[in-house]
Amino acid sequence: MNEGLMKNGSFWMPSQASTFAPGIDVLYDFIFWLSVVLFVGIFVVTAYFIIKYRRKTDDQLAVAQIIHNDALELTWTLIPLGLVMLLFVWGFNSYLGMTVPPSDAMDIKVTSKKWNWQFDYPEKKITTFGDLTVPVDTPIRLVMSSQDVIHSFFVPNLRIKQDSMPNRYTTVWFQATKVGRFQIFCAEYCGDAHSDMLGNLIVLSKKDYEKWLDNGGPSTAGMSLTDLGQRVYQTQCSACHSIDNSPKTGPTFKGLYGKLTQTSAGAVKADENYLRESIVDPMAKIVTGYPAGMITFAGILKDREIDGVIEYIKTLK
Ligand code: CUA
Repeated sequence: MNEGLMKNGSFWMPSQASTFAPGIDVLYDFIFWLSVVLFVGIFVVTAYFIIKYRRKTDDQLAVAQIIHNDALELTWTLIPLGLVMLLFVWGFNSYLGMTVPPSDAMDIKVTSKKWNWQFDYPEKKITTFGDLTVPVDTPIRLVMSSQDVIHSFFVPNLRIKQDSMPNRYTTVWFQATKVGRFQIFCAEYCGDAHSDMLGNLIVLSKKDYEKWLDNGGPSTAGMSLTDLGQRVYQTQCSACHSIDNSPKTGPTFKGLYGKLTQTSAGAVKADENYLRESIVDPMAKIVTGYPAGMITFAGILKDREIDGVIEYIKTLK
């Protein structure tokens, strides 16, 4: 789905899709090769000295110890100091560049919760889940917060990663340089479905982005209820509910429709009304054997999306 992650990348790195990426990779390569050269160099010299200055005969006397050598001590102090200062200035400059967004950057609000990403486009009243859609060659500032624990917004192709925390805002900015689809990860262990807390960064041309905004965001109008439900499932439900009977935090959706289910409020048949209630008021009837861990989707999902999820569950026999 995200052919962008390693495609066109190097052996080590994902492809570069932001203005930061080339600079960060050069710095990374410099530190990496510097470490390789120092490691190999020190190892080779040590091995050479061990052999050259070994005691060759049993009665060989110890060589006189050299107590002090100013030139040598200055050399092994100043060269590493110079290297460390170079890395500090270089790294700090890159850090400033990544921390201070241009004043014309476009704000998008990012809300993380167990276990999905929500994106709000302030000027257009558009909200998307899982997919962050942005125009190419435009500075974007993400203002992030979390509704529960700490998550971390990570897009390897952009070379950005920023924690998203409860009760405070954090920001990160980027400017995408390539049209395409790139993987978003959560990079902070946040519970059972941390590894499923994925999303897509969709970079459109400026023209396509305008069109996307004018259409009110992701178009669902032409979708069948089942297709819409499947899409909502992938962004909202899949972290906790499987569709193949495999165990997850919540009950599987496979064979759920019409099933007699034991809950905290007695046995119920999983019909449309029960499914709808479970989506908007999950605490009303907790399925026996599962934690009361689901948040309400009232106000998050539109009615048609809830209808879609129910229709989709019906197809999972
Ligand atoms: Cu959210 Cu890990």
